[in-house]
Amino acid sequence: MSDNVAPAPLPRHIAITMDGNGRWAAARGLARSAGHKAGLEPVRLCVRECSRLGVEALTLFAFSSENWSRPAEEVASLMGLFFEAIEREISDLERQGVVLRIIGHRQALSVRLQAQIAAAEARTAGNTGLKLQVAVSYGGRWDIVQAARTLAAQCVSGALPVAAIDETRFAAALELGTLPDPDLLIRTGAERRISNFLLWNLAYAELYFCDRLWPDFDAAELERALAFFAGRERRFGHTGGQLGAAPKAVP
Ligand code: FPP
Repeated sequence: MSDNVAPAPLPRHIAITMDGNGRWAAARGLARSAGHKAGLEPVRLCVRECSRLGVEALTLFAFSSENWSRPAEEVASLMGLFFEAIEREISDLERQGVVLRIIGHRQALSVRLQAQIAAAEARTAGNTGLKLQVAVSYGGRWDIVQAARTLAAQCVSGALPVAAIDETRFAAALELGTLPDPDLLIRTGAERRISNFLLWNLAYAELYFCDRLWPDFDAAELERALAFFAGRERRFGHTGGQLGAAPKAVP
């Protein structure tokens, strides 16, 4: 990032939908798996930059509930990549003080990958730096249903009165738990969709869509996303006047 200074205010929590790996690979005559592999470099960059800038949390959409329906060989290569990436990057994440957590339906993953995830999470749990969530086998609707089931089971057992369920308690049962909601969603790959990512938590996120394919995402593009965010007036349902500022032009 140029001159080491990020535009202010900085988002506390950034969510990223990393889209375009397949197209990046196809444009080079490569297999889709090569695009996913190339997508690891911007992941490293974002973790490094968010840590350096003091962003509190970064949540990456790596594999959706719907991605299971991709060709079996692509799914297998992605699962292999997740395993290798954790193995290779864990020391570096630890050095940066990152707290790694995988969110999503982890029982759908292989026992080997589940064990490796559990070990990596345990190894970084005591860190105090960037909270890095990687969404694997994740869907926003799945997340809401699993939260509803958890709370329903507590109600049925008598541990939780129905009237005690409010937005705070519901949000705490979601995969992001008590993390602040993402303030900024970045989506690469020229698509302008949420695609079942963090449906509850993105309620007030600023949405930054860019045409770059994920393997081409770089520090300059991250800086543009942060500058976009810094220029937004976040009203959370209030009027600009109530916030004590004249409304900014909405691009
Ligand atoms: C979407 O692009 C990308 C994915 C389904 C995989 C994302 C995974 C990585 C970037 C690998 C590393 C991640 C971590 C955190 C270990 P696409 O395949 O849908 O691209 P397309 O729209 O061009 O086909």
